[in-house]
Amino acid sequence: MTAAAPHPIPYQGSKRRLAPAILGFVPADTRRLIEPFCGSAAVSLAALRAGKVATVHLNDSFAPLARLWTAIIDTPDRLADDYQRLWRAQLADPRRGYDRVRDRFNRDGDPTRLLYLLARCVKSAVRFNASGEFNQSPDRRRLGTRPARMRASIVAAAALLAGRATVSSGDYAVWLDGAGAHDVVYLDPPYQGTSGGRDHRYHQQLDLDRLIGDLERLITRGVAVIVSFDGRCGDRSYGTRLPARLGLVHVELRAGRSAQATLAGGSAHTVESLYVTPGLLTDGCAISAGVVQRGRVRGPDPHRRDPGGVRLTGHHRQGDPGPP
Ligand SMILES: C[S@@+](CC[C@H](N)C(=O)[O-])C[C@H]1O[C@@H](n2cnc3c(N)ncnc32)[C@H](O)[C@@H]1O
Repeated sequence: MTAAAPHPIPYQGSKRRLAPAILGFVPADTRRLIEPFCGSAAVSLAALRAGKVATVHLNDSFAPLARLWTAIIDTPDRLADDYQRLWRAQLADPRRGYDRVRDRFNRDGDPTRLLYLLARCVKSAVRFNASGEFNQSPDRRRLGTRPARMRASIVAAAALLAGRATVSSGDYAVWLDGAGAHDVVYLDPPYQGTSGGRDHRYHQQLDLDRLIGDLERLITRGVAVIVSFDGRCGDRSYGTRLPARLGLVHVELRAGRSAQATLAGGSAHTVESLYVTPGLLTDGCAISAGVVQRGRVRGPDPHRRDPGGVRLTGHHRQGDPGPP
């Protein structure tokens, strides 16, 4: 079995656990995986680690995050040294240390400061105020990833990405225009919240109609696409489904028990939706909980847990009634 991919950037919403299942849809000879909404790039790192793709492109419109990826790839030792300095400087007074770094980050967008803030803040979750400033609080119970562990993750990620990754910061759409026949595009757009209004989890809001139009053009050009979109926990659905006219196949990945439901004494499971272009199903690609054949998922035991902790619940063409 391939060792787990390094994951240097703690990031709420990371697809780290789901990456093995998502990778099951990436054909083995893929030249380039493009992640226009890369965040912590869990799928790209896993794809490189598994030897599934030759190169990856990481893009995120949050510029400090893109700068952090550049630092990981180009100057890993310096990044690890700087992280260690920041981490140690907080020890005398962790709360004041955190606030100081956050204030400075909001002035200069420095990538090492972002790494420290993500490692140290509540749920590793970025939050922004109306002026676009990072305003997440520190997690008072922990000091953030220890420097030695962070260094090991940074160095391992740099080794995996060196010479195989390019990075950009900008709008996702640019990377859809540049995708071609030898690429697979994996999109994990900002999570659709249940409430209307501004979502404080993202520095920028997503225009859903624009995304759907962009996807339609991409799919019409014949580019292979995998989209993580919406979610369901027990009976509750989050967000809408992608429209059937896109012709994507909808797969539900069972992502484990909901922490919130467990706290409330329940046992609802979180289900994550994946939408894939049909060509990715007929290429004989294996998925971790079964094998896709002639557009059908064959899982020998639908209740078996796969090594990544992900269970596949089924798939159906869009327009079919939902899964049982
Ligand atoms: C759900 S997260 C991606 C998580 C990622 N798959 C991972 O494993 O960590 C969505 C990302 O999209 C970025 N983003 C939001 N709007 C964007 C846009 N218009 N273009 C590019 N990136 C955007 C956010 O900064 C965020 O990092």
